[in-house]
This record gives sequence, C-alpha cells and structure tokens, in this order.
Amino acid sequence: MTFDYERGIKMKKTFSHELLIYPCPIVLITSKYKNIENVLAVSWAGVASSHPEYVTISIKKSRFSHTLIMKSKVFTINMINKELLKKADYCGTYSAKSVNKFEKCGFTQLAGKHINVPMIKECPINIECSVCQTLELGSHTLIIGKVIGKFIDSNIYIDKLYESLDPVVYFRPNYYSINKTLLGTYGKMNEVIANNEEIF
Ligand SMILES: Cc1cc2nc3c(=O)[nH]c(=O)nc-3n(C[C@H](O)[C@H](O)[C@H](O)COP(=O)(O)O)c2cc1C
Repeated sequence: MTFDYERGIKMKKTFSHELLIYPCPIVLITSKYKNIENVLAVSWAGVASSHPEYVTISIKKSRFSHTLIMKSKVFTINMINKELLKKADYCGTYSAKSVNKFEKCGFTQLAGKHINVPMIKECPINIECSVCQTLELGSHTLIIGKVIGKFIDSNIYIDKLYESLDPVVYFRPNYYSINKTLLGTYGKMNEVIANNEEIF
C-alpha cells in the first residue's frame, strides 16, 4: 500500500534535530605525529569495505586528532567495552590541547606492528589503518582508512565474539549496555520465530 505525499505527511514530521542514524558505536582513535600522541572518542565510524578491508571515521576539523591524522596519514581504532566507557567518555570530552589523555587515563600503550602509532592494550580489539583518502564535507572530514593490521585479545574466541565482549552503544547523549537477547540470525529469521508467528 502506498500513501501519497499529502496523506503520508500527516503521519510523519520533519525534524531539525541533529541527524540520527542510531545506535552508534564508540571507538577510541589513537594518532601520533612526530612525538605527539593522542586519543579521542569517535562514534561516527564504520566498516566501508570487506575485500579489501576499509573503514571510515568522521572527524571535526577543530579536533587536535584531526591535525595529527592529516599529517601522519595513519591512525588506529580501538574497541571499547563497558569497563572502558568512563575513560572513553573522558577522551571524548577533553582535548589534547589541554591534557595528555594517554597519561590521564592510564592506558597501556601497545606499539604498532605496521605503523608508528600506539594502540590501547586494554581495548579488546585494535585495528591499524593508513589513510587512503579524505573528503572535507564541512564541519567534519571523512577519513577512509585502509586496514593494515587487526589484533584481538588472545583470550577472546572470534566465533564467540559477542559472548566475550561487553559492548556499549551511544544514543546521544546517553550510553547503553546491550541486552544480549538473541532476536534472530542473519538470513534465518524464520527458523527462530517459526513456532510463534509469521512475519510476512
Ligand atoms: C561518545 C562520543 C563520540 C564522539 N564522536 C565523535 C566523532 O565521531 N567525531 C568527532 O570529530 N568527534 C567526536 N567526539 C568528540 C571528540 O572525541 C572530542 O571533541 C575530543 O575531546 C577531541 O579530542 P582531541 O581534540 O584531543 O582530538 C565524540 C565524543 C564522544 C564523547
């Protein structure tokens, strides 16, 4: 059934609030240029390609990290969990312009394997990236990173990733833990709900 615009618009309203594609992840991005190292929180991040692997992050030009990444052309992505949330919030609230966040948060630096940027040992997953393209869009610069290294804590089983991690999501301005109720499996939704109902 299709509603024409005149009828449809009565059921919807436009909004001027900041654009929402939710929920968002929270990752920690580390960067280094010459001897200056930094870490900031980013929620506008995602996987852009799987073969070969590329990621995107979107960083405001005024961030200290923006300068470091644009100059060094490398960065790392570090996944957080519930335990690291308070420190992640700190890294997203304070700038390296006034504080050394690595020191303040007490993060253990893990030397990069392929690039000269420290990763955060306490984060369960770390990804090394080299900048392959940037796009200035206005307030933010879209940075496309080629994945050149991927690391995971050795006590985490990759096929039990979800069970092993304690992820959090960002629903601005709040952070939420994830209720791990299994709702279905990719391409197998009918198997899970078969005994209850039909979806279509
Ligand atoms: C949960 C969260 C998500 C954030 N996401 C982004 C983002 O996607 N892009 C961005 O430029 N800033 C983002 N920020 C803001 C920066 O992390 C923040 O301005 C930080 O202090 C910049 O640090 P820097 O100046 O040391 O680089 C986020 C902050 C928080 C708390």
